[in-house]
Amino acid sequence: MSRSDTGPIDTNCMTLTRYVLAEQRKIPGATGDLSQLLNSIQSAVKAISSAVRRAGIHHLFGVAGSTNTTGDEVKKLDVLANELFINLLRSSYTTCLLVSEENETVIEVETERQGKYIVCFDPLDGSSNIDCLVSIGSIFGVWRRKAADESQLSIADALQSGREMVAAGYALYGSATMMVITTGGAVNGFMLDPGIGEFVLTDPDITIRSRGTTYSLNEGHEGAWDEAVREYVKSKKYPKSGKPYGARYIGSMVADVHRTLKYGGIFMYPATKDAPKGKLRLMYECNPMALLVVKAGGAASTGLMPVLDIKPNNIHQRSPIFLGSTEDVKDVEEFFQKYKH
Ligand code: AHM
Ligand code: MG
Repeated sequence: MSRSDTGPIDTNCMTLTRYVLAEQRKIPGATGDLSQLLNSIQSAVKAISSAVRRAGIHHLFGVAGSTNTTGDEVKKLDVLANELFINLLRSSYTTCLLVSEENETVIEVETERQGKYIVCFDPLDGSSNIDCLVSIGSIFGVWRRKAADESQLSIADALQSGREMVAAGYALYGSATMMVITTGGAVNGFMLDPGIGEFVLTDPDITIRSRGTTYSLNEGHEGAWDEAVREYVKSKKYPKSGKPYGARYIGSMVADVHRTLKYGGIFMYPATKDAPKGKLRLMYECNPMALLVVKAGGAASTGLMPVLDIKPNNIHQRSPIFLGSTEDVKDVEEFFQKYKH
């Protein structure tokens, strides 16, 4: 193979593992637990990515519990993703409580493996897109335990506001696999290089434009929207001056948010008449995405307040969400003020 076939090899590339370690070194007295935790999520994501890429061939689509040709039980992708997240986080010795979209109750890590962090995650989001090969993703948020020790651990530890998160991220299984992460500072994007099996820093310090040119929501629900949302969308389609916004909607939150971070604009999942709190879940969908967008210089709102300020009372509660470029989010908030009763 000639040199041009292999391309130049970066012998000093910034991998996600290296980045996390370097960040840890900046904090005097850091125990390395958060690095260990993020590495375990990274391993789960690599395994999920590999399963997603082979899903059709390995019959990972379809109904959970069906058997493959060799008689082994075949797990649906979302079941597999959930088990990977749970097993890897448990065995990282850094977590005490886990909240998953797939599990009705909080998972308490066995005492001998407990650490100080709480992780809320959606192991495989965008379930309706799995079988038709459209992008899907994983989302996670990390909080620190409030209780002094494990004997005092309670559900309140898993119900902290988004502001208290110490790290958040997502993995996008798109045309390539990418992880986007913040540990409270910059937002960085790492692309999985299948050649070396490592996430490599490709999108350092992601910042979102202050205004975009696209809006993104499920317009099929228009008849059930609040007046504020209806009027806002109308104002983007038929502006008094300038060009109308374009519409983009994948129906996978991770892919829609990733596009919004990269290109600007607004992603929305508003309340509807039947779903007064919208569809998306606060602890493992809205909060992690809100933190990433805010840290990238954007905004995330319920229409009436910042998503990150919501005081949760249920691990699976939902919240309406409007996130993206600050000016775009401000516009929709103005309509909410106008139509506030
Ligand atoms: P899921 O957790 O069942 O996969 O649902 C969440 C997904 C999000 O990824 C996406 O933003 C939304 O549901 C799309 O919903 P809709 O099909 O109502 O537009
Ligand atoms: Mg989901």
